[in-house]
Amino acid sequence: MSKLHHEPLHADFGARVDGVDLSADVTGSLAEDILGLIDTYSFLCFPAQSMNDEALLAFTRALGEPEPEHVTLGRTGKTVYFGTVGNVSDDGTKKGNAHPNTKYQTGNQLWHADSSFRERPCSVTITHAHEVPGEGGATEFVSTRAAYARLPKDMRETIEPLKVIHDYVFSRSQVAPVDPAHAASLPPVAHRLVRKNPGTGARNYYVGSHTRSVVGWGGVESRTLIDDLMARATRREDILAHQWRAGDTVIWDNRCLLHRGTPYDANRWRRRMRQTRVAGIETGSLPG
Ligand SMILES: [Fe+2]
Repeated sequence: MSKLHHEPLHADFGARVDGVDLSADVTGSLAEDILGLIDTYSFLCFPAQSMNDEALLAFTRALGEPEPEHVTLGRTGKTVYFGTVGNVSDDGTKKGNAHPNTKYQTGNQLWHADSSFRERPCSVTITHAHEVPGEGGATEFVSTRAAYARLPKDMRETIEPLKVIHDYVFSRSQVAPVDPAHAASLPPVAHRLVRKNPGTGARNYYVGSHTRSVVGWGGVESRTLIDDLMARATRREDILAHQWRAGDTVIWDNRCLLHRGTPYDANRWRRRMRQTRVAGIETGSLPG
C-alpha cells in the first residue's frame, strides 16, 4: 500500500491525499504510488495545491502520455493538452448563462466518462481548480466497478462478451450543435462493455452518455440494457459529490468512474478549472 497519507471518502471509492506537493518534481516512485492509489481508489483529491499550467502538464507527464484535447484538435487540427472547464475566458472575462460555451458545457451534466468516444479513450483526467462558485458547480462521481460487483451473476455473464458503440455526436448534439470538423474527427467507436483494470484485474462496465447502442442488438433492446446499467450505477446513495475548493487537484479514473457536473449560476459566479488527461493504453479493439 502507498506510503502517501490518504483517507477514504466513500464506501465504494475515492480518497483524499495529503502531504504531497504535486507542483514539485513527481519522481518515479511517487508517480508509481499515485498510480497505485488510482487503481485502488479511482478518485483522488489533493487539497491546497499550487498548480499552474506548467506544473499541471509536468505532473500529467509523470503519470503517462498527455492526451490531446479533442475539441481544439477536431476543430483546428492543433494539439493542445489543456481544457478549460467553467465560465472564465483566457483573458479573464466571465461568460454568463446565455453564452454558447456555457450552454455547450451543460453536456457535462450528463453522466459520462471522459473521451470514451475516442478510439483510445483516456485513462485519467486531472483537474486543478483555480476559481470555484460559492454555490453549486459540484462534480458528482459514481463507480461502475462497484456497480458491476452488485450485478447478479447472470447479468454479468450476459454483458461479458458485448461491445458498445460510444458516439460523441450522438450525445453532444442533444444539448448543443457540434462543429462539423469536430464531428468528423470523432466517428463512432466500439468498446468492450466489460473492462478490466490492467493492474488489479478488477472488472467494471463501460457506459455513459456517449454510449449509443450495443453492437448487434436492436434499438429498443440495446437502449433498455444501457439504461438499466446506467440506473444501477448512478443510484443517489452511491454518489460521491465533490464540492470544489480553490487549490484542489483531483484525479479521476475514467476507465471505471462516471461523473457529471452540477449546475451553478454563471451570471453570478466565476468557475475556472484547468484540465488535462492521460492517454489510455487500451484501444476499442483490444480485450478489456
Ligand atoms: Fe467530464
